[in-house]
Amino acid sequence: MTTPAEITYRSLEDAPVAAAEGAVVVFVRADGTLGPAAQAADAASGGAVSRLIGSKGFKNKPGTARVLAFPAGMAANALVVASMGETAAEARRAGGAAAARTEGETATVYGDGSPEIQAEVAFGAALRLYRFDAYKKRDEDEEGGEAPANRIVFASDEAEAVAKLSGPKAALAEGVFFTRDLVSEPANVLTTDDFAARLAAMQELGLEVEILGEAEMEKLGMRCLLAVGRASTSESKLVVMKWSGGREGDAPLCLVGKGVVFDTGGISIKPAAGMEEMTMDMGGAGVVAGVMRAVALRKAQANVVGIVGLVENMPGGDAQRPGDIVKSMKGDTVEVINTDAEGRLVLADALWYAQETFKPRAIVDLATLTGAMIIALGNTHAGFFANDDEFAAAFEHALHATDEKGWRLPLGEDYDKLLKSRLADMKNVGGRAAGSITAAQFLKRFVKDGVPWIHIDIAGVTLSKEATDLAPSGATGWGVRALDALVKRYEL
Ligand code: BES
Ligand code: MN
Ligand code: ZN
Repeated sequence: MTTPAEITYRSLEDAPVAAAEGAVVVFVRADGTLGPAAQAADAASGGAVSRLIGSKGFKNKPGTARVLAFPAGMAANALVVASMGETAAEARRAGGAAAARTEGETATVYGDGSPEIQAEVAFGAALRLYRFDAYKKRDEDEEGGEAPANRIVFASDEAEAVAKLSGPKAALAEGVFFTRDLVSEPANVLTTDDFAARLAAMQELGLEVEILGEAEMEKLGMRCLLAVGRASTSESKLVVMKWSGGREGDAPLCLVGKGVVFDTGGISIKPAAGMEEMTMDMGGAGVVAGVMRAVALRKAQANVVGIVGLVENMPGGDAQRPGDIVKSMKGDTVEVINTDAEGRLVLADALWYAQETFKPRAIVDLATLTGAMIIALGNTHAGFFANDDEFAAAFEHALHATDEKGWRLPLGEDYDKLLKSRLADMKNVGGRAAGSITAAQFLKRFVKDGVPWIHIDIAGVTLSKEATDLAPSGATGWGVRALDALVKRYEL
């Protein structure tokens, strides 16, 4: 599906700046000085780099890059000069921004700074050069009809150390790409069966994967989840992915994801305009899958269980109706006021299953749960909710460490009251006001006292209309890096 960039690591002597073809990337340090490779590019090009830096209007803004085309004195077609900044996050963004300017060309990236910083530059470049091109026609003259991969030669005075540090980062990038692939796939391809099969294939990586079908879920009483998928010809599924890299018997961290492979709204059908975007309504499950892949690839020393509820929300003769009352696995009844508030029904049973089966030390759920989240925070911050301040702080730390953005929103009894139903234990919507919060309150009813829990509403951050420093436009993979960092806190 994806065509990941190929990155090879070389020593500086093996990759002389003046002779490198394609694109050459060098960095300006935060203090405006040049490292050895940038100096070499400056010398070869007759001072083009210093003239750029000295020019009016040049700002050494971390994470930005400029292109000097066909630099005289060099074999390259483009000399990309990027501003390095100081922090790991800035280096990562600089790598991404620089890579974005080299697309299509083989790029030789000349690292500068500590091996750690250089590895972040390479990581940023890899994340940015991802593309999803499974359904586009190729030029006939391209070999084998395959799109050529973006190629990067990472040249460094610390090539070996950088390559070594890049190992676990490559595992993480593969997790991010897995999520982006899943989110990008259309719903006629990524059916519940296809999704489950892709997860089952991860057994190869040492994950234990178990798939529950409708009959098994029926036995468990997961009627809320099953009600959502009733009118679909794709069978509803619950997929459990287990990574046991920690101490035997240690309670796992559970990650639970909403996997609505397509959300028409059901009988409470959505308007036609924009409905195609609902192929991304499995984004929460996509992130869980990506984290599990990364954790397995880098052989994390922690016990982590990923659980995804895979359903398709369709209208039809067998669809659930507004006004239906369904019983959850927990035993509470839900009056379904709006069949388009389906994600919480899926998660309610998935959360309960997670707790009953695994007695987790903590739970994180992710879901493209509410349009209201986009109204509240737009497309940069995910909104999150927590029942435990310490756990929230740990997650905030993980967000900060990876430079993924999230913002905590409140929970409270007054919001919970909005879910009161005349006929059942609760209804599935709380009205227009505070729509993301009442959705979180609904989920909270399915979290046992004493279990630290975070709910992340990723409706606004799963897709990006614009390219960012670390991703092309489209699926972002938001959350895979932060959750991988959270897992690290639990490693032995
Ligand atoms: N999947 C949607 C939420 C969504 C909307 C995600 C836009 C991404 C972009 C969810 O199932 C939904 O339809 N929520 C309703 C809830 C309402 C009926 C209470 C919504 O947000 O309108
Ligand atoms: Mn919906
Ligand atoms: Zn939905």
